[in-house]
Amino acid sequence: MSGLFISFEGIDGAGKSTHIEGLAKAFRAQGRVVTMTREPGGTPLAEKLRTLVLNDAMDPMTEALLVFAARRDHLLQCIEPALARGEVVLCDRFTDATFAYQGSGRGFDIEMLLTLELWVQARQGLQPENTAENTSKTVRQPDMTVWFDVSPEVAAERLSGTRVPDKFEAQPLEFFRKVVLGYAQRAAQFPQRFVRIDASKERHKVWQQITSAMVRRGWLAIMVAANGGPK
Ligand code: TYD
Repeated sequence: MSGLFISFEGIDGAGKSTHIEGLAKAFRAQGRVVTMTREPGGTPLAEKLRTLVLNDAMDPMTEALLVFAARRDHLLQCIEPALARGEVVLCDRFTDATFAYQGSGRGFDIEMLLTLELWVQARQGLQPENTAENTSKTVRQPDMTVWFDVSPEVAAERLSGTRVPDKFEAQPLEFFRKVVLGYAQRAAQFPQRFVRIDASKERHKVWQQITSAMVRRGWLAIMVAANGGPK
C-alpha cells in the first residue's frame, strides 16, 4: 500500500485536534498503520525547536529558519520513513502554516519562504526545480491539506479560558485576519491539494465534511467514516 500524507491547517482555535484523532481511528479501523505527528515538532530535535519558536521572542527570519530547520529533521526522521513504509501520516500543520503565520501574519518575505520550501522539502536525491510542473515531483507536499476555515472571532471565542496562550495564541485578531488570508491564498494556489472545511459549524458537521473528502478520494470506506469519528 502506498503512503498517504495528510496535513491539517487553520488558525489557533479552529478545532483540528479532535478530528485528527478521529481520523486516525477511522484509518486504523481499515487496517492502515497511522503516524500522528505535528509541526513544529514530531522528532526530539524538532520538539526542542518548537519550544523556542512558541515561547521566545525573535525576529521573523529567525522564526522562519527555525520552523524550516524543524521541518527538515521531521521530514528526514519521521515523515519520509513512514511514507516509505506505506503508512498514513496525519500531520497537525505543515508548510502552509509557515506561509500563513510567518509570511502573511508576520509579513516575512514570501520569495524567501518559497526558496526554503524548495530546498527543505526536496525529495531525496533530487535537485529542486523551481517550475510549476516540476515542483510537485521534486518537492514533498501533502497528498491532501485539510484547511479548517473559521473566522478569528469564532476561534478566539473557542480558545478563551482554555489555557495559558502561547506566543501565537496571544496575538491580536488583526494578526489572525492576515493568517486566514495567507491560508486562503495558498488554497487558491493549490486547489487540488486543499480541501476547505467550514469549521464554524458544529463538531459533527465538521467531521462529516472531513470524512466525505476522504471517501471522495477513495481513502476511507463510508462505513468507517460514519462510525469512526468523534462523538
Ligand atoms: P498548534 O499547532 O496550534 O498546537 P497547539 O494546539 O498545541 O497549540 O501550535 C503551533 C503554533 O505554531 C501555531 O500557533 C502556529 C505556529 N506555527 C507557525 O507559526 N509556523 C509554522 O510553520 C508552524 C508549523 C506553526
